[in-house]
Amino acid sequence: MELQRLRADHASALLAFELENREYFAGSIPDRGDEYFAGFDARHAALLAEQETGTIQFHLLVDDAGQVIGRMNLIDVADGAADLGYRIAEKAAGRGVATAAVKELLALAAAEYGLESLRAATTVTNLASQTVLTRCGFVPSGEVVLSGKPGITYTLRLRDSGGERG
Ligand SMILES: CC(C)(COP(=O)(O)OP(=O)(O)OC[C@H]1O[C@@H](n2cnc3c(N)ncnc32)[C@H](O)[C@@H]1OP(=O)(O)O)[C@@H](O)C(=O)NCCC(=O)NCCS
Repeated sequence: MELQRLRADHASALLAFELENREYFAGSIPDRGDEYFAGFDARHAALLAEQETGTIQFHLLVDDAGQVIGRMNLIDVADGAADLGYRIAEKAAGRGVATAAVKELLALAAAEYGLESLRAATTVTNLASQTVLTRCGFVPSGEVVLSGKPGITYTLRLRDSGGERG
């Protein structure tokens, strides 16, 4: 599998991924709504334009057959920090895919995008996501309400901003 920065030619594979997993995702995070699917092409173009400004960095996880099996997104990129979000296809779940992909994204976030810290949040009932975050080094930092449900915020320092790096 490969982590690829979102591109224009990803549109149809990404739409297929979102449609195929719509019900599955809605079990743990809010559904995107019919308007997301109806306006997919325009939204895809808008995301790519936004990505060009550097305020978001979206990535797809693509398997050897070229199918999208996950998304790994950085949003609100500013001042050396960003929010992390992700989703993995039902057929690829429970095999360590999210954990491996988040770790890869952390390396990219530091080396490619020059970030120093990341934020994340998940609901208290999303044990899979909590496991992914803590395994990747995120530390709980507070409480939050996510679409009306109690949640936990997390932070991760990507690199030491002090001067002791030789
Ligand atoms: C959360 C999500 C990304 C995890 O992806 P994944 O590839 O299955 O994650 P991993 O396999 O790397 O790790 C998940 C771990 O949580 C465990 N887990 C899964 N469901 C669990 C549950 N209900 N209770 C406890 N542990 C659970 C898995 O067994 C695994 O641990 P293990 O390696 O010891 O078996 C995926 O389930 C998903 O996309 N869910 C829907 C969208 C979502 O919730 N996104 C996150 C929003 S914050």
